[in-house]
Amino acid sequence: MKLPFNLRKTVIINLKHYQISSGIHCEHFLSKFIGMDFPEDIRIIFALNPIDFHLAKNFPELEFYAQHVYPTDYGANTGMYSIESLMDFGITGSLLNHSEMRVQEEFISKVMNKSKTMDFPVVICAENNGEADKLSRLTPEFIAYEPPELIGGNMSVTSSKPEIIREVVTNCAKSSVPVLVGAGVKNNSDMRKSIELGANGVLVASGIVLAENPLASLTSLIERL
Ligand code: G3P
Repeated sequence: MKLPFNLRKTVIINLKHYQISSGIHCEHFLSKFIGMDFPEDIRIIFALNPIDFHLAKNFPELEFYAQHVYPTDYGANTGMYSIESLMDFGITGSLLNHSEMRVQEEFISKVMNKSKTMDFPVVICAENNGEADKLSRLTPEFIAYEPPELIGGNMSVTSSKPEIIREVVTNCAKSSVPVLVGAGVKNNSDMRKSIELGANGVLVASGIVLAENPLASLTSLIERL
C-alpha cells in the first residue's frame, strides 16, 4: 500500500526532447528504470514528450505525466491534444507553463478548470516568486519553481536561490499547494536541500537524462532522504 501522495517526496524527470530520451530512443531510455525498487516514500514521475505518449502503456509500473497539455477537447484541433487523450494513454497528469513552453494566464486557467472536473493533476511551472504566488491560487497539484537562467546548467536552484525557495514555499502554503524546485538539480545534496527548504522534491531533466548512467544518478539523487 503506497503512502498518500502528500507524504511522499516527489521527483519529476522531464525527458524534454533530448535525443537519448525521446522518439525512437525513449523506450530504451525508460527500460533502464524497470525493476527499480523505489522507496515507498518517494514518488518518481516521468514527463513525456508528446511523440512518446503511446509508450506509457508499455510501462505499467512507471508513472507518467505529459510535458504540456491543452484545454481543448477531442475534435477539430490541429496540433493539440486533450486531457481525455492523455488519460486514454494512461498518462495521469501534466506539467504546464514550463519555461520552454510558456502560456498565457487565461490558457492556464482554462486548463485548470477542465483538469479539476476530470480529477487530472496539473503541475504549474513558475519562473519567480510573484508568478508562483499568483498561480498557486489556481490550486495545482504542485507549483514547480524553476528560474529559467539556471535550467540546463551546473548551478542548482537549491544553492543559488535558497531564500526565494523559502518564500515560494511560504506563499504557496497559503493555498495549501506544495512546491517542487528545478533547474540545475543534479545530486542527492540538491534533493536534500530542496526538502530542507520546505519543498516536496524536484523537477529535473539533464542531471538524470544526460548522466552517463541515468539509473545510477536517480538512485543516488533519492538515497537516504
Ligand atoms: O523541467 C526541468 C528543467 O527545466 C530543469 O532542467 O536540465 O536544469 O534539470 P535541468
